[in-house]
Amino acid sequence: MNQTEQMQQLKAQCMGCQGCALADTRTNLVFGDGNPCSPILFVGEGPGEQEDLQGVPFVGRAGQLLDQMLDIIGLNRNRYYIANIVKCRPPRNRDPLHTEQDACANWLAEQMRIIQPKIMICLGRIAACRMIREDYKITRQHGQWEQINGVWVTAIYHPSALLRDETKRPDTFDDLKSIKAKIMEVCPEAYQL
Ligand code: URA
Repeated sequence: MNQTEQMQQLKAQCMGCQGCALADTRTNLVFGDGNPCSPILFVGEGPGEQEDLQGVPFVGRAGQLLDQMLDIIGLNRNRYYIANIVKCRPPRNRDPLHTEQDACANWLAEQMRIIQPKIMICLGRIAACRMIREDYKITRQHGQWEQINGVWVTAIYHPSALLRDETKRPDTFDDLKSIKAKIMEVCPEAYQL
């Protein structure tokens, strides 16, 4: 099976998940979007209202801002894959509980096994604390690169934070340029997808 088929099969298994109480309040499970053959993986926190209604990650206001930002460095959803730490919307968009993150972790681990990313970008503090380290400080450490199990990893501010606080945008612009440079260094083939 190729990566696209493997991801479709995994999604089919995930769709009925009852692994935590978020299953009781979801409209749709939000599995992931983009190209499973891309070496670039973006990881968000969890679905918001629009994502829950549509079943697709990052389609609300924050998602539209993310699309615009990534367009600046020539990335569209055929050139990366995007998924969340938790696949179901936490009520009123509260932070996902550790127990919910734990219950959902295997789905993202399986998505990573299929994609074999060379670059992973965490969107916001929650994703960074889960994927990089528990005490990650997004304000101080965003845009810094490190290798974890052979994968180049960084975090940027969550697009929702950029909607709330426009003064964070210049920093994120620098981080985006650094993401483009890292792609050109590690996996320029992503720009051919
Ligand atoms: N915020 C996230 O972290 N993920 C989404 O899919 C949408 C908004």
